[in-house]
Amino acid sequence: MHSKIVKEIGSEFWIDSEPSKINGAPAWLAAYGKTSLFSSGRGAITSVLQGARDRGFERAVLPSYLCEAMIVPFERAGFKIEFHSLNASLECDMEEIKKMCARERSILFHMGYFGFDTNLNIKKATGELEKLGTFVMEDITHTLFSDVSSSGAHCKVASLRKWMGLPSGGAVFCDDENIVRSGNIAHQKLVDIRLKALSLKGRFIENGDVLLKKEFLELFAEGEKILNNDVNAYAIDPVSMSILGGVNIGEIKSKRSANYEHLFRELSCVKWIRPVFGSLPDNVCPIFFPFFCENGERDKIKAMLVAHDIYCTSHWPLYHKLNGKLTNDVTHLYDDMISIPCDQRYDLQDMNRVVSVLKEYK
Ligand SMILES: Cc1ncc(COP(=O)(O)O)c(C=O)c1O
Repeated sequence: MHSKIVKEIGSEFWIDSEPSKINGAPAWLAAYGKTSLFSSGRGAITSVLQGARDRGFERAVLPSYLCEAMIVPFERAGFKIEFHSLNASLECDMEEIKKMCARERSILFHMGYFGFDTNLNIKKATGELEKLGTFVMEDITHTLFSDVSSSGAHCKVASLRKWMGLPSGGAVFCDDENIVRSGNIAHQKLVDIRLKALSLKGRFIENGDVLLKKEFLELFAEGEKILNNDVNAYAIDPVSMSILGGVNIGEIKSKRSANYEHLFRELSCVKWIRPVFGSLPDNVCPIFFPFFCENGERDKIKAMLVAHDIYCTSHWPLYHKLNGKLTNDVTHLYDDMISIPCDQRYDLQDMNRVVSVLKEYK
């Protein structure tokens, strides 16, 4: 048994051991609606877009704050894309969206960011959007464990592999079977590469062997390349199904909430840190603790965190087609926000490490 070394915080998940038993799809997922499982969030989005195209949809309205992985499926499916603005609290202007959706029948893609109910006004406007003939797709990757208001979306999609150690995993929740194109086979190369990467990272977390780190980073990068090149709707693999069957939702919720609250409390006295959200509402299960830093300082702060083995995802690198098209608020989100991972992999001791590094900054 190896003694634990300084735990790396952030970046890709890992698995501690390879599951051997294959169970059926977990009941907790079915609570979100009729469920179809895929290899990735991208595959899940593609499966819906194919059905939507068959129904005559050719145009999509997307938030201007999102990652390439969410845009690419729309591009590959041949959709014309229009981006709407958001304010610095990640909320949209419903009048702008209604105008965009009124111009042409569209798919409206929206999400609650970081676990918070930031898309509440879209959910409240379901009736008006329905009248415009808009097809509403909600991405619930971040809000999966939050008890947020019911969406009224025609379908929900999620990446499952982004918030736990899974070789593959994405989901569509949709009661209309005709809209979802199923993925019949798994992408075995992707599954093999990611399974190996996740296992190596699990060993690295246990024993700190830096040679393993180089190897798993290369494998994760190779996996991402495959995912980006091929956004088709592949089936989820059996190992991922098995892991999903063992998810402890109570533990996920309580750990994420405790970690967020701790960061919020401990960092409230740090003047240069401005949390995007306030203290945690009871219904929210956060996935990150996002905050704004002063303009021009983000990369320096992130580099300082990396030097302490704390890796904060860039939420998100600006997609090249959005360059020059952003409002000041959205530019602020891309340029000045840092999100600290506070998910179920970590405890208060880990969060204290983050706090002390940030307090050292100035
Ligand atoms: C909110 C959200 N939705 C969807 C996706 C796409 O999921 P995947 O990477 O599994 O294709 C991502 C990926 O980063 C994401 O962050």
